[in-house]
Parts: sequence; C-alpha cells; structure tokens
Amino acid sequence: MDPSDTPRSSPAQPAPETICARPNLLPGSSSTPLVPAPQLSVVYRFEGLDHVDAVYQGQADGFVYARDGHPNASALAARIAALEGAEAAAVCGSGMAASAAVLLSELGSGDHIAFAEQLYGKTISLIDRELRRFGIEATGFDATRPESLAAVLRDRTRLVMVETLSNPLLRLPDLPVLAAMANKAGAKLVVDHTFAPLLCRPLELGASYVVHSGTKLIGGHSDLTLGLVAGTHEEMDRVRRLASTFGLSGNPFESWLACRGLATLPLRSSRCCATALELAERLTRSSAIRAVHYPGLPDHPDHERARTLLHGGFGAIVTIDLGDRHRADTFIRNLGQIPFAPSLGDVATTLSHPATTSHRGQEPGLLDRLGITPGLIRLSIGLEDPADLAADLEQALATLS
Ligand SMILES: Cc1ncc(COP(=O)(O)O)c(C=O)c1O
Repeated sequence: MDPSDTPRSSPAQPAPETICARPNLLPGSSSTPLVPAPQLSVVYRFEGLDHVDAVYQGQADGFVYARDGHPNASALAARIAALEGAEAAAVCGSGMAASAAVLLSELGSGDHIAFAEQLYGKTISLIDRELRRFGIEATGFDATRPESLAAVLRDRTRLVMVETLSNPLLRLPDLPVLAAMANKAGAKLVVDHTFAPLLCRPLELGASYVVHSGTKLIGGHSDLTLGLVAGTHEEMDRVRRLASTFGLSGNPFESWLACRGLATLPLRSSRCCATALELAERLTRSSAIRAVHYPGLPDHPDHERARTLLHGGFGAIVTIDLGDRHRADTFIRNLGQIPFAPSLGDVATTLSHPATTSHRGQEPGLLDRLGITPGLIRLSIGLEDPADLAADLEQALATLS
C-alpha cells in the first residue's frame, strides 16, 4: 500500500496539523487568579443558535466579537465610570477615537457644535475640517470667556466641547457656567479631561460627556494608545455601537494595561502635581524664562477658579516661555535627561514644543490668539526626585544666558 494511502489521523489520534491548529482551553481551577488576565480572543464560541441569540439579546452574559466588546474593555469601563461618577463608560482605540465616537453619535448633518479654540489641535481638525465635510457646522469660541460661548450658540447647537486644562497654557474654563449655558440652549457639554484625571469630576459640574486620552496620565507609561468616554447608559450604548461600526473600539491588551495604569494613578497624580507646583514656583525665579504658566501659581489667570474646581493638585503640566524658537531649541538640546517626546503623562518627565507638535498646522491667527508662541516649552512632570529635575532644568537654562 502506498504510504500516502495510510490514514494519518483518527479522532483518537489527530495529525500534528490538527493538534497545532486547535486551541485547547486552559485547565479549570477551583481557585481564581488574583490578577484578571488579558482576554485576547477576537471571537467567542457558542453552543448553538439559541445561545448566540440569548447573548445578542442581552438575556445571557457574554461577548461575541472583540470589536463589539470584550471583558478587558468592560472591566476598564466599569472603573472609569466609577471614577467619573457616571452611569457607564466606553473604551475606544485612542483619545481621538473617543472624541470622534461622541461627536459622531450626537451630531448629524445641519447640526452645530461650539468648540473651544483651546482644544487639542487634532480635535479642532476633526471638528472644524473633517465633520464639516458631512454638513456639521462648527464655530470656535474662547472657553475662558462665557460671553464668547453665548455669541456662538444657535438653535441647532447640539454640543459644546472644551478641555478641563487647556494645552499648553493650562487655562481652566468655568465648567459649571459653560454647562448651564449649553444645557439652557438645548446642547450637551463634552469635556476632554485628559490633562486632569482625578482632579475634578466634570459630570458633577454639569457636563454630559467626559472623554480622556487614556494614552496619557491614565496609562501613565507611554506604552498604550487608548481613549475613554463616560456618560449615561443610553449615551454609552450609542457610543459603543458607533465605535464598533466605525471601527473605533479599543483592544484587550491595551485595556488591560490601562487597568494596570489606573492602579497607581492616584499616587502618580498627587506626586506629579506636588512636584509640578514646586518646580513651577522655582522656575518663576529664573531670569532665563519669560513666563511660567501653571494654574497653581497665584498669577495664573485661572488660579482662583482652579482652587475652587480642582482637588488634589493643579496638574502635572508646567509650560514655560523661553522667548523664541532658537532659545527653545537650545534648551531642548541641552536637556540631556529630559527627552523631547511630544506626548505627556509618563512616569518620567518629558517635554514638548507645542508650536511644532500638538498645534502644528493650525492657522497662525489662532496660535497668536491663544498665545502659543515659538518659545513655549510644555513640561510633563514625572515621578523623579524634584531636586534632580530642578538641577536638570537649571543647567539647561544656564546655557541660554
Ligand atoms: C488633550 C488631548 N486630547 C486628546 C488627545 C488625543 O489622544 P490620543 O493621542 O490618545 O488619540 C490628546 C493627544 O495628545 C490630547 O493632548
């Protein structure tokens, strides 16, 4: 008999290909793991049609397909909802995905959104460039002047969007006043809370949605990209449906990493805020710096509001103005231990140059109005010893004179 005729497998003795291809389940255990596992499966298996019907109809617990939901997103969302005092939360693939999911779930052709001119540059591009292509009207306003919002509200204004602490000058809008104005006009306030997790709860101040780039302080280690949204059950059902349809959902491993980041967020936040305040005060004494922007300093234009609205600190970000691009570049090049890495919220201190990174490509008039000059450096303060950080900054400042 030709060897190829020999049956290579029987049900009792599968061929190597079959053994390798089929996953075996983890062994059962009467004890439960202390640490929840990342559940990387893209898809879930069912006993039959009644079972899949029951899961789709919400009559049985379970997941079907990871883009629609998975255990790690549910675990992370539950913690975010609890932190924000929200009914529910949703996990998206990035901070931009989270904002896009909110905007796309609320706005349709002919609707209007009022957006703070202080928003992150890409969020402005999303609203003012991309959404416009779908017939959504948008008008910018100065989030630090409620009268500026009053001037742009319209009958069809559905959303008003601001950031808790703006990038890079750390302006803090009067959230309760803006929320009341938006609600009176029949609109919902969306707050991007990326720069200030834990420092206040925007939903308690009147916002309808709070969004985060989980990539920053919540993740905390510059090793994940994720976005989070919190709001009502109904709003989050819509956001999750939309995120699945547009492909904006967050993945399991990064959701798992973000849960790990959350474990130390309160400790990191209070330590970074304390160091940021100490450094900000110290930097005001440097003759090489034209201005220090930090809401914890008494001369910051929103200091009094920050004392009322924020609890536990004034944030981890300190922005300094070195006067011009050349001095900013010299400072960056001479700061060996603090990398120029255009993000924020890492355990280690990093710095960014807003004019060439986060606000790159914005119209020059807007940068002038916002005071984003070529000399601005944004420091994201990490967990290092404050004296070491001060020494690093001061030696680089000394090279400017
Ligand atoms: C305030 C703010 N919101 C949203 C985003 C977007 O977040 P992501 O990079 O996770 O999409 C950023 C990114 O820098 C940001 O600074």
